[in-house]
Amino acid sequence: MTRLLGIAGSLRRGSFNAALLHNAAELLPDGVSLEVRTLHGIPLYDADEEAEHGLPAAVTALKDAIASADGVILSTPEYNNGIPGVFKNAIDWASRPPADTRKVFAGRPFAIVGASPGGFGTIMSQNHWLPVLRALGVDLWTGGSMMVSRAGQALNADGQIEDPERREQLRNFLADFAKFATRGGD
Ligand code: FNR
Repeated sequence: MTRLLGIAGSLRRGSFNAALLHNAAELLPDGVSLEVRTLHGIPLYDADEEAEHGLPAAVTALKDAIASADGVILSTPEYNNGIPGVFKNAIDWASRPPADTRKVFAGRPFAIVGASPGGFGTIMSQNHWLPVLRALGVDLWTGGSMMVSRAGQALNADGQIEDPERREQLRNFLADFAKFATRGGD
């Protein structure tokens, strides 16, 4: 079994990016699972808090989920042409302490997807992830792209992607990324 982890980078109840991952969970190839996580409960990073109390439980849980996944899919919103602070904050926490960064991130297959109501489907925030993921040493899969523009129409009121072509695009994206993750990235 190839175990994928999807992290939704929005706390919003009706998040398009969380919905995208829930659609993905229904379009997986045989032998592949996808756990969808959100970032609820992760506080703002504060080095004093870390020094005095260590990592919050929600951060440790996120780190453990990343470290035990064969591959990780970041489903990123876009705010002001970049990564939303909530999402960057969570990944910054997960990179602590430095002694754990390699174990959690280095060489781990990662992919980026995103959804936005605008016309460009998070292309700017997906690009903003690149230097961050390089710093963490992940094995970024760039063999496909998934940018859901006009998300208010692409996803129906139940958060389902209805367009068969778009579902097929997501199915193929997942199949190809899962293959990459299964091989341990090459
Ligand atoms: C946005 N939004 C947005 N969308 C986009 O495509 N490009 C952008 O630069 C921005 N900028 C932006 C800034 C701020 C502060 C907010 C709150 C929103 C809209 C954004 O894509 C929209 O709120 C999505 O619904 C966010 O993703 P979730 O919460 O649906 O997953």
